[in-house]
Amino acid sequence: KELAGKTAFVTGAASGIGLGIATALAQAGVKVMMADIEKDALDKAISDLRLTNADVEGVIADVSLKDQLQAAADATIERFGKVHILVNNAGVGGAGGYGQWNDAAWDWTIGVNLMSVVWGFEIFGPLIESHGEGGQIVSTASMAGLVAAVAPAYNVTKYGVVALSEGLRQELAPRGIGVSVLCPGFIRTKIMESGRNLPGRFASKIDVEAAAAQAAESEFAKMAADLINKGIDPLYVGELVREAIEEDWPYIFTDNMFESGVDERFAAIKAGFDRIRDRTPRH
Ligand code: NAI
Repeated sequence: KELAGKTAFVTGAASGIGLGIATALAQAGVKVMMADIEKDALDKAISDLRLTNADVEGVIADVSLKDQLQAAADATIERFGKVHILVNNAGVGGAGGYGQWNDAAWDWTIGVNLMSVVWGFEIFGPLIESHGEGGQIVSTASMAGLVAAVAPAYNVTKYGVVALSEGLRQELAPRGIGVSVLCPGFIRTKIMESGRNLPGRFASKIDVEAAAAQAAESEFAKMAADLINKGIDPLYVGELVREAIEEDWPYIFTDNMFESGVDERFAAIKAGFDRIRDRTPRH
């Protein structure tokens, strides 16, 4: 796929992986509408990119609210006329482990990480299809979308993004829309500070500081924070995504750290089939 001159809409574009993707696309001559909830970071990202002559625009949106995502899509068409590429990337660490979560934390995590992706497909699919030039929908899941660790709400949303992408890839291909799922390993971003983006409606229900303090005690969180601090460069991830869009990769992985974990999961699933292979089901 030729990218120069096309238009992309990227969520969570003000920092981390989203900014890496927006930058890599802009470097290839793609016009980028950058959506985010964090105004100061978004303003800075846009002014930095414009210094490199990138054709980028920003829109403030809380993607966990459908009407705000719709308004951002409308603003994209108004500004650029068409849209070819959707990158559903905004995400939060969200609810803690078993015994630490509450309903509001599940709502927040599901809203940002999963429902925004459902709505992204729903709102942008017809916009991409309408011009007949084809396009791509890339959604950021995680290795936590292929292997379950100790953050259940996060895992649920990321498995959900993988499931949506796998299913809709077949359905959207005849409409000229490629579908890719990005499953990063540890990337050097601000994901451990997701509480900075807690939408106001959850403020009285989720104590971000207490959750962060509690997480800071856990060995898993300490290890994850350390791996993220030493993680892969988000711009490298952006460049991989650009290549994946050009070539319509179904899965975009950043490294092989979790390959053995995926193998173990598949082996356990296979063992489940093997266990009942010689039995005849009763109907
Ligand atoms: P980040 O915190 O640096 O960037 C996330 C961006 O999403 C921020 O700019 C933030 O303001 C925005 N955002 C958060 N809530 C939002 C909302 N309600 N509406 C609109 N924008 C919102 O973190 P990172 O790591 O760049 O996260 C991007 C994606 O990558 C997420 O989906 C995350 O789950 C995923 N991911 C990250 C990994 C890592 O190691 N950093 C590994 C695997 C997946």
